Amino acid sequence: MLETRMLVTGGAGFIGANFVRRALDTGRYRITVLDKLTYAGNRANLAGLNIDFVQGDICDAGIVEKLVPSHDVVVHFAAETHNDNSLKDPSPFLRANVEGTFQLLEACRRHDTRFHHISTDEVFGDLALDDPQRFREDTPYQPSSPYSATKASSDMLVRAWCRSFGVPVTISNCSNNYGPYQHIEKFIPRQITNVLAGLSPKLYGSGEHVRDWIHVDDHNDAVLAILERGRVGETYIIGADNDHVNNLQVIRIINELMGRDANDFEHVADRPGHDLRYAMDSSKLRRELGWQPRFTDQNGMREGLAQTIEWYREHQNWWLPQKQAVEAKYAESGQ
Ligand code: NAD
Ligand code: DAU
Repeated sequence: MLETRMLVTGGAGFIGANFVRRALDTGRYRITVLDKLTYAGNRANLAGLNIDFVQGDICDAGIVEKLVPSHDVVVHFAAETHNDNSLKDPSPFLRANVEGTFQLLEACRRHDTRFHHISTDEVFGDLALDDPQRFREDTPYQPSSPYSATKASSDMLVRAWCRSFGVPVTISNCSNNYGPYQHIEKFIPRQITNVLAGLSPKLYGSGEHVRDWIHVDDHNDAVLAILERGRVGETYIIGADNDHVNNLQVIRIINELMGRDANDFEHVADRPGHDLRYAMDSSKLRRELGWQPRFTDQNGMREGLAQTIEWYREHQNWWLPQKQAVEAKYAESGQ
């Protein structure tokens, strides 16, 4: 069987690097990664894998035009992704997330190339703690932060390029991921590596905020299902029904799994404009494509967290060199 030639943008980042592994395991893809290697990208995340790697910027029309025609599908992960960074300086987010997506769409338009856009639940804004609704494919967009506003903008471009120019696209909006290779600026790896480095976990504000946590492998299996069986022009919500734990409870679980007093953490300054709750209704994906998450409910999340803790314990060389600088940056904003 012929392999599908896949261009993965942002494949040296957290979700992209896990995706490349997952896709290679199927034996159905020949992969090129295009990644700028920003502070969030790491070539070592792809070490030993049989892929082609191009260091470059998705905003560079020349590089994009050179790569897209020799691929059957583009899977677009590349983005600036951290909300706290977007509050300090939004400009890189506008460039990578909006201009970068535009350049890729233009190349896919010229060459009639299939495009899958990786997006986020944050485009929908947030929900009250007692709101019974969950985000669905038809929930109106109401992004809160510069990061989520740029992701919402990129989703809009993708929809417009599909409708106006017939570019064969799909979009997925996923909830908060956790797992190996996640940058230690993010909530779960920050707390795990704080404990491993002898520092206290740091909770923003009251900790009542709820994220619908999903293991990165469950997210990537859903992306593969959409690529292989999804309907062109459609959007799919990806979520694992884990919106039953708030940030305070996540910190307590991490402490327990790491053999510490559950309440041994610090309250730090809250994030301005902090979204309160995300919750996903992934019934369309489950019904149409038969996808099921593996790490679901309280036990599944504990298992996923335990595995993730083990990974960071075993990969100190991967994260330790960055730890001091990441914490110094947080200290500047009292976080
Ligand atoms: P990440 O920050 O770990 O990795 C981003 C990658 O993109 C890095 O390798 C970086 O070098 C690369 N990149 C950034 N700008 C680039 C540019 N201009 N050109 C080429 N490469 C560039 O991000 P992640 O957490 O793996 O997220 C990947 C995608 O998934 C993003 O689009 C994000 O919005 C989306 N997403 C993330 C989550 C989550 O919980 N992390 C949830 C839903 C959706
Ligand atoms: O919802 C999907 C989104 O999830 C993705 O689109 C983003 O790219 C990804 O970064 C993530 O965004 P969040 O802002 O939700 O994730 P973060 O890991 O930064 O924070 C998760 C929650 O934990 C949030 O409520 C803020 C809180 N937090 C975060 C940090 C870093 C803390 O309480 N303490 C911390 O130290």
